[in-house]
Amino acid sequence: MRLKNKNILITGSTRGIGLSIAHECAKEGANLVIHGTKPEKVNEIVDQLKKIYPTKIVGFAYNIKEFENCQNLVKQSLESLNSLDVLINNAGITKDNLLLRMSEEEWSDVIQTNLTSVFSMTKAISKSFLKQKSGKIINMSSVVGIIGNAGQANYAAAKGGINTFTKTIAKEFGAKGIQCNAIAPGFIKTEMIDTLPEEYLNTIIKSIPAKKLGSTDDVSKLVLFLASNESDYITGQIISVDGGMNI
Ligand SMILES: NC(=O)c1ccc[n+]([C@@H]2O[C@H](COP(=O)([O-])OP(=O)(O)OC[C@H]3O[C@@H](n4cnc5c(N)ncnc54)[C@H](O)[C@@H]3O)[C@@H](O)[C@H]2O)c1
Repeated sequence: MRLKNKNILITGSTRGIGLSIAHECAKEGANLVIHGTKPEKVNEIVDQLKKIYPTKIVGFAYNIKEFENCQNLVKQSLESLNSLDVLINNAGITKDNLLLRMSEEEWSDVIQTNLTSVFSMTKAISKSFLKQKSGKIINMSSVVGIIGNAGQANYAAAKGGINTFTKTIAKEFGAKGIQCNAIAPGFIKTEMIDTLPEEYLNTIIKSIPAKKLGSTDDVSKLVLFLASNESDYITGQIISVDGGMNI
């Protein structure tokens, strides 16, 4: 078991990539904090996971756009599991529009949900990681944060921000036993990309060297490695899982 007795908090783990990460980690012996926006959904997922895995699994609903909510999420998680070993900043949204049509609200919603929350969660957990002289932070970025994408100025800026935030935290905490890495997925089959028109997706697929979309498993297998002690000497990296899209 690669994550036996590890306590892992995964933001946005009620569906998609986050839920896949939850399964992967629990399968390897980790205790989990499941998180999402709706309490009923969080409870439903916690109940489902508990039926499959014998590890300790709890769940909390908070809108992580607010700094105080992030503090409370970390506080409640620490109270429930006594300590945390891994934080996975996975929650994210898209509100796509071309720059000329993008509203201030679309910009700030995406920046707050995708980038400010990563700052808030990392800051909230840092005291306990520093005290125990260990901890792993895994941030969910995107290929779009590396190469940009028309219609996603807000999302690209947030994910690009995550990339340099990741390197900065790796430098600040490197000597304290804390690693911080980011994963940059390409287009992964989840509800997030369900809304994209088929024609657009087909054009995207043609531009991917692997000529296919990725699966949530492709991402969660890498998370498993980064959450385990196998990755102890890896920090400040942005690792692409994109079928070669950013080459
Ligand atoms: N699907 C892709 O193709 C793809 C590609 C690159 C990066 N990503 C990134 O991976 C992560 C997960 O994506 P996904 O496709 O699984 O998305 P998804 O929409 O299926 O799931 C998003 C999760 O985030 C949670 N969430 C959203 N806003 C929140 C808020 N304000 N407060 C609390 N929770 C909130 C949702 O409840 C949900 O659990 C995101 O950060 C996304 O940007 C996805």
